[in-house]
Amino acid sequence: AHPSHRRIAIFGAGYIGLVTGACFAELGHHVVVRDIQPERIRLLNVGELPIYEPGLGDLIARNKERLTFTLDAEEAVRDADVAYVCVDTPPTPSGDANLSRVWSVIDALKAASHLAAVVVKSTVPVGTAARVRAALDAAGLSHVGYVSNPEFTAEGKAVSDFLHPDRVVIGSDDPATAELIASLHEGIDGPVVIMDTASAEMVKLAANALLATKITFTNEIATMCEATGADIEPVTRAIGLDHRLGPHFMKAGLGYGGSCFPKDSRALRAMASNAGYAFQLLTAVIEVNDLQPRRAIQRLKTELDGLGGKTIALLGLAFKAGTDDMREAPSTVIASRLLAEGATVRTWDPLAQPGDSEPWSSTTRHFTPVEAMTGADATLIVTEWPQLVEVPWDQARAVMRRPLVFDGRNLLDPAAMAGLGFTYMSVGRRT
Ligand code: UGA
Repeated sequence: AHPSHRRIAIFGAGYIGLVTGACFAELGHHVVVRDIQPERIRLLNVGELPIYEPGLGDLIARNKERLTFTLDAEEAVRDADVAYVCVDTPPTPSGDANLSRVWSVIDALKAASHLAAVVVKSTVPVGTAARVRAALDAAGLSHVGYVSNPEFTAEGKAVSDFLHPDRVVIGSDDPATAELIASLHEGIDGPVVIMDTASAEMVKLAANALLATKITFTNEIATMCEATGADIEPVTRAIGLDHRLGPHFMKAGLGYGGSCFPKDSRALRAMASNAGYAFQLLTAVIEVNDLQPRRAIQRLKTELDGLGGKTIALLGLAFKAGTDDMREAPSTVIASRLLAEGATVRTWDPLAQPGDSEPWSSTTRHFTPVEAMTGADATLIVTEWPQLVEVPWDQARAVMRRPLVFDGRNLLDPAAMAGLGFTYMSVGRRT
């Protein structure tokens, strides 16, 4: 083996843990991934994926002699040089992150005095590193290094983001440990930025908050466009050409969702509040984002002259295209608002499994977009699935009760939709 190839134990077989494990195996390291959910480990051991992520299945299959899966924490760390913590940190009612899963991994590592380093990838409040450091010291592991290594991959392109990152952030209060973890990334095509642990923890929360702010700012400009007759598309295209601002994350829509932006922006705000500081800008972002799907429902309600007794087709349930993930998806708020207004809701999504809890148990699921739109008074596009561009919209027009499409993702061409006889609404565009 190459001298810099190491043995890595990964705790957590979710999006982050599996992508990290598979990519490190691809780079030549030996990896054991441990999870507490037996069904996850069973699936992985028979070559199946518990989550949907493009390219991940191939990567795992290709590296299976260097990548194993286990329920046993002791087995995972037995031969490891480095342990990665990749468990989730869900929000608590106060908005603070729930760190109980991180702490149970740290507890499991207290016997592993042979480790060179513990690396935390989970998104945690600033100051967690210092607390974990103290816990490791108290357990007699002061010789084990600690690294805060936030993850910036986005779902749907996590494998390529991991292998070609904009940057790898390594937070460590000890240069030798920072070097060791940096060396694991040999072969990764992106700059490594080394800093102290608290700053590394802050980078993650601040970067996600700024991205959420940029989206929300765009959504507010889109609302202003609707009010004034401007068009958000040329406006954002021209703004994005300013290299100081850049073209990314300026797509107007129904608000950001997913497992990170909503949770991380609330966590950063909670951290500020806990320190006695009101993070007013972030509070505004969170409020405006909560309003965004409700504003769309309100526009639909006005257009349809009330929603009671109406049938609405929701196309797309996932929080964005390319994933089956419905965590904090705008579709959930939208479906439950529509039901509260007395509407009937028919849904379609190519991947997401809404399950049978509310609001989904009160909706019907359909195999094709056209089937979902049959008999509908309006269609609401919630997720920017590319399949929706290919829908035979003339056919959809024929099966709908009223030809109304609200395109919450600005996916379709307004002129073409009008040409087919639709009343077409979108977000901030001149139609
Ligand atoms: C996000 C970040 O992009 C990653 O860098 C970060 O690592 C990750 O969170 C995390 O903290 O783990 P992700 O949640 O997978 O990744 O999805 P994004 O592609 O960032 O989209 C987030 C939400 O913003 C989606 O609901 C998306 O539809 C929305 N969005 C995004 C917009 O409404 N407009 C845009 O222009 C961009």
